[in-house]
Amino acid sequence: MAPGSDLGIVKQRLADAQSITVLTGAGISADSGVPTFRGTDGLWKNFRAEDLATPEAFGRDPRLVWEWYNWRRELIATKQPNEAHKTIVALERRSQDFWLITQNVDGLHREAGSAKLSEIHGNIWKVRCTGCGVVEDNRDVPIAALPSCRQCGSLLRPHIVWFGESLFFEDLDHCSRALSHCDTLLIIGTSGLVYPAAGFASIAKEAGAFVAEINLDPTPQSLLVDISLHGRAKDIVPLLIEAV
Ligand code: OAD
Ligand code: ZN
Repeated sequence: MAPGSDLGIVKQRLADAQSITVLTGAGISADSGVPTFRGTDGLWKNFRAEDLATPEAFGRDPRLVWEWYNWRRELIATKQPNEAHKTIVALERRSQDFWLITQNVDGLHREAGSAKLSEIHGNIWKVRCTGCGVVEDNRDVPIAALPSCRQCGSLLRPHIVWFGESLFFEDLDHCSRALSHCDTLLIIGTSGLVYPAAGFASIAKEAGAFVAEINLDPTPQSLLVDISLHGRAKDIVPLLIEAV
């Protein structure tokens, strides 16, 4: 790899970094076979978010919402982390100061071994009680049609942040610290359309970080970042941390 190439520059920045933050979206899991939301075959092309991923939709028809999550659970259960997920684990292990922020709910980062992370949109393998609020792991595939809480009997919902809902305070807090402290931010496989994650590049940039994105296509953040690398996450990300 030529040292002066865009890829070479990002690789060198990562090698020299004191504090690294990584932000990921559906594109990193696309290489594991998990559908994205907004591409040609994206989930939001075939399903209406208003019917499936809002608190109002769940209030109207919890059975339909659970059916959709059951279908996604079945699909995701067959998928494994890819080389890009694994590279992020390697980056975490060799870095003193590291944080991963993911919008993905598929749990593939954890499965790969990531430990320092915020799953800001939740996790499809967790359920939350609509009554007492308890959050539990649940890997049933399929989950019962209308699952109920073992503690209080109320209806369980997916532990996912839906449209119209706020992120959890603890996650926001962790993210804002990671974004304002990092000297290097890598953004991988997100369309950059959903807030607050869509604003994370500019927070890091304003705090003086070097920001690089890896995506198949340009995004609304492409003009703001220092370098855009175009290609598949599973091909590009591993190249960024080979021995310098
Ligand atoms: P999107 O589906 O909006 O965007 C996926 C991005 O990944 C696009 O910019 C693609 O160009 C890029 N991409 C696709 N395949 C890729 C690959 N193999 N390598 C690199 N890039 C690739 O997904 P997100 O940005 O994650 O919310 O969407 C954000 C949120 O919107 C999601 O978390 C979800 C959705 O509604 C919830 O689940 C709550
Ligand atoms: Zn309960």
